[in-house]
Amino acid sequence: MLWKPVFNLVALVSAPLVGAFVIPYDPQVLLANHEQRLPESSPLDQGVDAFTRPSWFTSTLLARRLLALSSSGVVSTTFPDPVPSSAHAPSSVAGLPIGLREYTADCNSFLPEHLSNDDNGDPTILALRVATTFKNINAGSNLSLELDWWDHIDQAGPVYPGLPRSPAALPRVTLFGYLEALPPLTDEAATRLEQCFLQAHPDAKVWLPGASGSPHSSFWARLIVTHAYWIGGFGDVQQIGWMNVTEWKGIRRESSMDGVGDGRGWTHA
Ligand SMILES: *[C@@H]1O[C@H](CO)[C@@H](O)[C@H](O)[C@H]1NC(C)=O
Ligand SMILES: *[C@@H]1O[C@H](CO)[C@@H](O)[C@H](O)[C@H]1NC(C)=O
Repeated sequence: MLWKPVFNLVALVSAPLVGAFVIPYDPQVLLANHEQRLPESSPLDQGVDAFTRPSWFTSTLLARRLLALSSSGVVSTTFPDPVPSSAHAPSSVAGLPIGLREYTADCNSFLPEHLSNDDNGDPTILALRVATTFKNINAGSNLSLELDWWDHIDQAGPVYPGLPRSPAALPRVTLFGYLEALPPLTDEAATRLEQCFLQAHPDAKVWLPGASGSPHSSFWARLIVTHAYWIGGFGDVQQIGWMNVTEWKGIRRESSMDGVGDGRGWTHA
């Protein structure tokens, strides 16, 4: 049976940004991408050969866009082995991974230039010292962060005629790396970072670092990305695999660094 994909990453490509920016939605770009991915098919076209996947660079643009649009993701860490009694966890979870959803935002570009990592796609995380995720990290765990577009299934169309909308067809990326605490910020830098983060998380103002009367002690941190694994959707029409981290880090909002991909930025995915 010939299944022809009718929608791809429409919701992701056309979504308004939850963070500090407004992404212009250019239907021409979207349509152009569509035509590229949906070649004219003749009755002789059969099976997956009729489909084309976006290039890996385009997929990486989409992944950076997913980061920019996301406000939370599942952070996986592992319990220390042995589990210290202060962890209040069963000793038998030593070494096991635990995935917990955490607030994130793509705020590097709001930091002063010398701290911004040049806006290279290291997600900003508000870390609560009391939370299991950050206790595990404090005990030596590295982490991964999974971001996905599954909450937006209502905005997606069916991938194939006759198949209901499918979250499995929507993109997700898992970023691997280690947590880096941000150094102390000047009041001005902290205010800018808070502005970015609170756009996505107005409620988090209660537990911002240094918030008076905060129920939990917190600090600003970011995930320094060392690897990125992408599942664009169904494998016949999307890429699945490890991304080129040089490209992940070299993509910017409007364009990418010299020598990275074809020069587009993530707004032009
Ligand atoms: C955490 O990641 C760093 C940098 O990638 C690496 O050097 C270190 O060995 C990792 N630690 C663990 C416990 O895997
Ligand atoms: C990763 O991307 C960079 C920039 O586009 C490119 O120069 C490099 O060859 C790529 N690495 C691999 C292993 O493909």
